[in-house]
Amino acid sequence: MKRLGTFYLQDMRAFLSREIISVNGVISKPGETSISVMDRGFLYGDSVYEVTLTYNRIPFLLDEHLDRLYRSAKSIYMDFSFTREELVSEIFKVVEAIEGDRLYIRIIVTRGEGEINLDPAAAKSNNLVIIGRQLPEYPKSWYEEGVTLIVSDVLRNSKRSIDPGVKSGNYLNNVLAMAEAKEKGAFDAMMLNYKGNITEGTTSNIWIVEGDHFITPPLDAGLLGGITRKSLLLLASKNGLNVSEENITPERLKKADECFLTSSTKEIVPIVKVDDSLIGSGKPGPKTQKLHQIYKQFVLDSIS
Ligand SMILES: Cc1ncc(COP(=O)(O)O)c(C=O)c1O
Repeated sequence: MKRLGTFYLQDMRAFLSREIISVNGVISKPGETSISVMDRGFLYGDSVYEVTLTYNRIPFLLDEHLDRLYRSAKSIYMDFSFTREELVSEIFKVVEAIEGDRLYIRIIVTRGEGEINLDPAAAKSNNLVIIGRQLPEYPKSWYEEGVTLIVSDVLRNSKRSIDPGVKSGNYLNNVLAMAEAKEKGAFDAMMLNYKGNITEGTTSNIWIVEGDHFITPPLDAGLLGGITRKSLLLLASKNGLNVSEENITPERLKKADECFLTSSTKEIVPIVKVDDSLIGSGKPGPKTQKLHQIYKQFVLDSIS
């Protein structure tokens, strides 16, 4: 990786902290890093990224995250100017430089810098930014009492514009949906596709439970193929649970017995209200909690 600096373990000790940022292999504290304003990630959101959580300092399902990063890059015709091995090595250097077990690791690859010109060829080589920070446990109330959603007026991008299946740095659509959720006092917003079916939350996938049946929208509804979603589809089947991918309308969502969100950092968060409709009894459902236990066990088994 020609543009990445060399960083030795003994140097890192001086930096050991709660948050650090690596820019092309140079590790610094927040506030001490810089990247050009000519970077296309800044100018156009022309970048791809991943977020993984560490358990006991191990980036969870890193291979899956890197596979998705490479798939996202390919979908937007972006080649990387470094190898996968170099990328993994930079990620582990960041982990080494932060204290704590539960770390948020954000890997961003931009198309790089160049003349102000939409032509992707204007960029010469990528910029690689890795943000690592301690992630305190999320509030217990999310899991014990549940959270609320709105169905947003903001539609999810069509697969023919910025494909939601690509985890790009262009999240303005999701930012607008989140702004609406916050304005209405909700935790998150669900975005519909052009057909009126539910796609996903702003940074999470959605699931409902009907009777003993776990249901999540199919990828072709236009959503990010979440890594937690994929793990849960497999785990649910393995554990003999009834699971399927089906289109979900807002009306179906509101009549569900249980509902929950999934993501790498949040795991499984129960939803107890959508717009003005209570979900089930208005409390986190037992099936959601059971699936969360199965997921937690899967994490433990994977890291031990
Ligand atoms: C739009 C969107 N959907 C779903 C997810 C959940 O994906 P994962 O389970 O891979 O974290 C994310 C995660 O950031 C996201 O941004």
